[in-house]
Amino acid sequence: MSAQLLKVSDLNKRCGRVVVADGISFEVNKGEAFGIVGPNGAGKSTLLNLINGTETIDSGEIFFGEDKLNSLDPADRARLGIARTFQIPRPFADMSVFENVLVGSTFTRADRNRSATHELVIESISRAGLLAHVNTPAGKLRLLDRKRLELARALACEPKILLLDEIAGGLTDAELPILLDVIRGLNASGVTIIWIEHIVHALVSVVSRLMCIAGGQVIAVGDSQSVLNNAKVVELYLGNDFSEGQAR
Ligand SMILES: Nc1ncnc2c1ncn2[C@@H]1O[C@H](COP(=O)(O)OP(=O)(O)O)[C@@H](O)[C@H]1O
Ligand SMILES: [Mg+2]
Repeated sequence: MSAQLLKVSDLNKRCGRVVVADGISFEVNKGEAFGIVGPNGAGKSTLLNLINGTETIDSGEIFFGEDKLNSLDPADRARLGIARTFQIPRPFADMSVFENVLVGSTFTRADRNRSATHELVIESISRAGLLAHVNTPAGKLRLLDRKRLELARALACEPKILLLDEIAGGLTDAELPILLDVIRGLNASGVTIIWIEHIVHALVSVVSRLMCIAGGQVIAVGDSQSVLNNAKVVELYLGNDFSEGQAR
C-alpha cells in the first residue's frame, strides 16, 4: 500500500473578492504522478503557490508527511523537499546553465562543501538531460532546453515532490515526447510529481490520477479516465469535442 505524502484539507483562499481556493481537499501518495487540469483562472497555479508557500492560505491544513506546512515559509518547505517550476520561467539569461542551477542549489542548503555542491548541480543538470549545455548561457537556450533548465533548478533543491506548472506549453510535437521522457524518468527515480497541464494527452501519458478544479473547487478527482469521462469535467473544461474525440 502506498503511503500518503501530501494531504490538503479544506483549503480556502480569497484574493480580494475572488475565491481562488474554495474548500479544496485531496491527497497525493509517495511516488505518485498526479495531474491537475481545469480552465484558465480555475486556481491551479495559486494552489501550487499555497502548497509551496509563496502565497498563504486563509484556512485549511496542508500536511507534507508528518509536517504541517501552514506556518512554514517557502524556504522551509523547500528544505522539507517541495520544489516547483514556474509557468513563466525567468532564468538569469547571462548566466550559464551551471550557474543558474548553482543558484537553485543554495536555496535549500548553503552549507554543502564545494565538491558536494558541484556534484549535486551536475547531477541535477544531467537528470534533466541538459548536460550538453552545461556552459551555455540560459538566454541562448531553445524552449525545450529552458524547460529542462527549470527542471534542473528544481532538482538542485533535492525535492521529494516536484510541482510542475504547465511545463509542456509551447513545445513542438517532436520536443514534447523528449520532455515527457525526462519527467517519467524523474518519477521513476522516486520523485513524487504534481503536474498542471493543458496538453491532456501528454499529461495522462505520465500521471495515473487526475484532479479537475474550476472556480477554486474540486470538480472531480480519481483515475485519469474516470475524470476525463466525468460529465462536469467535460462541461466545465474539456468540451464535447474532446469527449467525442476520446470515444472514437
Ligand atoms: N494575487 C492575486 N490577486 C488577485 N487575484 C489573483 C491573485 N492570484 C490569482 N488571482 C486570481 O485568481 C484566479 C486563479 O488564478 P490562477 O491560480 O492563476 O489560475 P490558473 O492557474 O488555474 O489559470 C484568477 O481569477 C486570478 O485572476
Ligand atoms: Mg496557471
